[in-house]
Amino acid sequence: MESNRAAIVTGASSGIGLAVARMLGERGHAVTLVARRAKKLEAAYEQLRDEGLEVGHVGADVGDEADVVRAVAAHRDAYGRLDVLVNNAGIGMGAPIGELSAKQLDLQLATNLRSVPLLYRESLAMLTAAGAEHRNALVVNTASIAGKQGQAWLSVYSATKFGVVGFTQAMNKELSGLGIKSTALCPGFVDTPMTDFLKGRVAPEDMIHTSDVVAAVAMLLSLTPGCVIPEIVFERPGGGALT
Ligand SMILES: NC(=O)c1ccc[n+]([C@@H]2O[C@H](COP(=O)([O-])OP(=O)(O)OC[C@H]3O[C@@H](n4cnc5c(N)ncnc54)[C@H](OP(=O)(O)O)[C@@H]3O)[C@@H](O)[C@H]2O)c1
Repeated sequence: MESNRAAIVTGASSGIGLAVARMLGERGHAVTLVARRAKKLEAAYEQLRDEGLEVGHVGADVGDEADVVRAVAAHRDAYGRLDVLVNNAGIGMGAPIGELSAKQLDLQLATNLRSVPLLYRESLAMLTAAGAEHRNALVVNTASIAGKQGQAWLSVYSATKFGVVGFTQAMNKELSGLGIKSTALCPGFVDTPMTDFLKGRVAPEDMIHTSDVVAAVAMLLSLTPGCVIPEIVFERPGGGALT
């Protein structure tokens, strides 16, 4: 169990982010939850608080630089340290390439990719201090299996997630020597609200569960300082077109 540790989780009001935030809280981290929609974020915050976890929340759009700066500053003011950063906020907008709008393109680039370097930049001083203290500062970047294999009709989403995987590799080259380790998570379909649109075709019980992602992040937390895992790919059995 970690104690006196702190974490930021983006996209923490739902799905993977909420599940990972709960695990981090249960392992003794003070956790700042970040998402855009206030009502949903407050409900997640109240749920975790009522479970006895030390949590805070900041309504912020990770696609907006000023919001990122404000969210990290709020975390710093509240807890003064950062051991785990989970860059998890993301959106997927399906469209055949001939029908792609610039708005869909920009929204996915800003939310899924542009946000990640900005969150690293703003968090760097606190992560560096944690890395110097215990050599096990961790940044988890939720990419996707679509960041390992290009997906038809999710081409822009795929491109953003390939970017997250590449950026994670670069961050390990730049920061792992400081005790700041980065891992890209690359899951296939996970049973969260994001995959509700698919549930007529793929049963939720045939999807990866958020508990699988939580187990992987818990494993990352248990690694010794000498071990970096740059990415984890989660596949569903059977393969096929719908990953
Ligand atoms: N579910 C899957 O099959 C799957 C597979 C591979 C990868 N992923 C990735 O996993 C991550 C989490 O997805 P999920 O499945 O847990 O989806 P989800 O349940 O829809 O959760 C998405 C979370 O991100 C937040 N969010 C979205 N845009 C944001 C923004 N601009 N700024 C701040 N927060 C934002 C949402 O809250 P607000 O909308 O209120 O901001 C929500 O908390 C995403 O990066 C997704 O691409 C999901």
